[in-house]
This record gives sequence, C-alpha cells and structure tokens, in this order.
Amino acid sequence: MKILFLAAESAPLAKVGGLGDVAGDLPRALQNFGIDVRPFIPFYRSINRSDIELDLVDDIFVDYPLGSEKALIYRTLINGSKTYLIDGEPIGAVNGIYSDPQVDAHRFTFFSLAALQAAKSMGWKPDILHAHDWHTSSAVVWLNRNRDSDPFWKNTASLLTVHNLPYMGAGGEDALDYYGIEAVDDERLPGWARHMALPMGLATADWINTVSPGYAQEIQTPEFGHGLEVLITDRKDYVRGILNGLDIRRWDPTTDKALPKHFKRDDLNPRQEARFAMLEALGLDTNPKVPLLAMITRLDHQKGVDLAIQSLVNLTKEDWQFILLGTGDPNLEAMAKGFESDYPDRARSIIRYDDHLARNIYAGADMMLIPSRYEPCGLTQMISMRYGCVPVVAATGGLKDTVTDYVSNPQGTGFVFSPINSDELTQTIRNALTMYRDKRRWRGLQRRGMNIDFSWQQSARKYTELYQQAHSERSQK
Ligand code: GLC
Repeated sequence: MKILFLAAESAPLAKVGGLGDVAGDLPRALQNFGIDVRPFIPFYRSINRSDIELDLVDDIFVDYPLGSEKALIYRTLINGSKTYLIDGEPIGAVNGIYSDPQVDAHRFTFFSLAALQAAKSMGWKPDILHAHDWHTSSAVVWLNRNRDSDPFWKNTASLLTVHNLPYMGAGGEDALDYYGIEAVDDERLPGWARHMALPMGLATADWINTVSPGYAQEIQTPEFGHGLEVLITDRKDYVRGILNGLDIRRWDPTTDKALPKHFKRDDLNPRQEARFAMLEALGLDTNPKVPLLAMITRLDHQKGVDLAIQSLVNLTKEDWQFILLGTGDPNLEAMAKGFESDYPDRARSIIRYDDHLARNIYAGADMMLIPSRYEPCGLTQMISMRYGCVPVVAATGGLKDTVTDYVSNPQGTGFVFSPINSDELTQTIRNALTMYRDKRRWRGLQRRGMNIDFSWQQSARKYTELYQQAHSERSQK
C-alpha cells in the first residue's frame, strides 16, 4: 500500500492544534503496519532550516490555466520517518502556518497540486490520496476530475478526513479559480458551498472520515452539519468515524520528565507532589482536601470556556480551586483573566502555551473540565485519563466516545453531561465534587481511566482496513 498523505500541519515541525498531532503520529503508526506512507506538508518559513537535515529530492512545475509555478520538494527525517516539505513562492508569502483566508487558500491549493505533481514526478504511484481538512481538499477534487484522463492516477482512491467541519476554506474562491479548480455542480450542496474547498472535497472524495464515530454521526444532522448535512447524509455509506490515538510514549506519567515524581496506576500518591509544587508556585491553597479543577485548551468559542467559568461562579459556595491554561480569542482571554481577578484566592488563568505546566496540571489536578460545544475527537480527555485526572465532558463527538459517565454507569471513567449548557455543567460538577469526598471510589474512577488503551495501534489498523477497501473498490472501476 502506498499512501500520499497531505496535511497543513505535522508535529513537531508545524503544529497549531490537534491536526498537527494526528498528522505527525498517524503516519508513523501506519508504517508499523508495513504501509509506505509519505506525509507532505508546506515548507513554512517558520520551520527552522538549520534544525533539520534536508534533501532536495525534486523540482517541479505546478501548471494552472494561465501559467505555471515552480515548487521545490525536500525530504527530511523526523523521529526516523520521512516527511516531505514543499516550497514555492506562494508558501513563502507569509511566515507562519495560517494567515489571511485568501492568502492561505492560495498557498494550500498550490501545495495540494504540487504534492500530486511531486508524486508523479517521482514515479511513485499512490494507491490512496489521504487528504485532511479544507487545506488539502483541492487535491481530492483535482484527482476526481483528472484520473479518467491520466492513466497515472487511474487507480488512486481518495480519502478525506474531517478534523473540524466548520472550517471549510471560505474566501478561497479566487484561489481555486486561479488554479483551475472550478465549482462543483452538486445539488446536495447549498449554493454557497459549491465553490469552497472542504464541501467540494466532501462531494468528490471516494471516502470520507471524521476523527470519532460520534462526530461522524453528528455531522449528518442540521445541528452539527453546518449546511452540509444533506450531502453527508446522502453519502453516509462512504462516511466512517475513526477515533484518533494518543502518542502513549510522549504522554506517560511513569516516565514524563516534566513531573517532580513519576506515578503509576497502582500507586497514585506521588501525584500529590506535582500538585503541591504547582499550587505553591501559583500561590494557591495546597490542602489536598480542596478539589483542584483545571482546563487546558485553546481559548475558542468551541471549547466552552465561558460555560466553565459560569458554572464555577454558580458554585462559589462549594470548595474548589481552578487553573486554566491556554491562549486564543482575546475576548475569552480577557474573560479568563477577569475570573482570576474576581477570585484571586482560588482561580488562576495562565494565558500562554506551556507544555511543562500542562503536564503538571494533568498530573496534579483532580478534574479536567472539557465542556466543548462540539468536539470532533479531542485529545485532552485522553491525556487526562492517562494521568489520573478525571474528565468532566460534554456529551458530544469524541468526548462521548472516550469517556463513560460514572453517575449512570458504575464502571464509568468520568462525568458526561448533556444538554451542553452551564446549568447542566454546574450540576455535573456538583456531583463530581460530592463524589470526590469518597476517596476509594475516586481512586476507582482514576484507575479505570488509566487502564484504557488509547494508543495509535487501533486507529492505524482501522485506517489500514479503510485504505484497503477504498483501494479494492477503485481497482474494480
Ligand atoms: C481538531 C478538532 C479536535 C480533534 C483534532 C484532531 O482540532 O477540533 O476535536 O481532536 O482536530 O483530529
């Protein structure tokens, strides 16, 4: 099996969010199944050229209706596996990963077409084109339109993975036109979506998947489908949900270098050390009887930071302390800071990216609040469980698929609430705070969460099966 794997991010080279983790980890997991997967990302200016070893493997031209643009193809080794980087004038137009929607559409369309061209120029014929999100959807559309006339691509099937449906590539019409990617004429799509990268990809991909089974169902409804539910429902026989995995070596409380003391499932007492040091450094109460609640998140409307803060305000009569870590939307950053100054003796809002502190929060906090309004998969609930921090999650997408509610199931691993609003969250936190006082039961909750296998192994196997199915269907055409 040969897989051409296209994404806008790939950790550790280029990462903004969960997409970067997935596009970094999944190819490595697939390689363990003997699959020849070649991940491609744009060669952003923010990637430090002196930090990595680079081989220039090819230079090509990307043709478009009015001319052609040069692209350079580099290869580098990251943790022992190959990643390809594509450079060219559009990519270098800005420094970082994401910028203005129009500029980005231009960069990512160029990148997507260049990657296809690079595979062909290298004489490496992929069985599957695996694209992720709107950024690389134009490759799927291009393949759909050209494989009948180009024997090189005849047997290549496409899979489009959706990590976040509302980000569809709006504003990219001119860029698509520039590269000759004309609108799709598909009545299942609303008019506004017919010339937008992600919807066009969803209409033309052989297979579609999302990053959890729950989200795969949700995007077929008006509530979560953002206007694309008619198309997605019509294509449901070609829609799958495959849960993301976790890099269980990078996230391991028995070896994590950031922690003052390591711990394992059958001895959770050393968790106190991380907690004590952290609370002391933040000037909070170190008494272990006071439950420590936390939130580690991008500050985005999706993540429900406002719901968490409102619920804690509703619960001021209860005993708790709270640490929030993250950056993002300036309004939400201000709200978080405001909450800290209203409750200086029990709340801290730390507005930055801090991997070291994040690891200590996972290790030292009692509960992680994850009240997302929607969550295609989510990573923090998995890391929390692995570190013995009990998740309190909204019943949506991947959160619902990975956390079992303890109130309704004695084998539960956390607390799951719905409908998603602050009243329901308030009540759920209240239940959790009550449960926290029963130390023995709380230990059970922590241990069951720590017992779950979130490794990439299972996801990679499911992707392998889906690749095989897509490939064999394509070969019969
Ligand atoms: C997006 C989604 C998140 C998912 C991640 C990786 O960031 O919002 O739920 O875990 O992609 O698939």
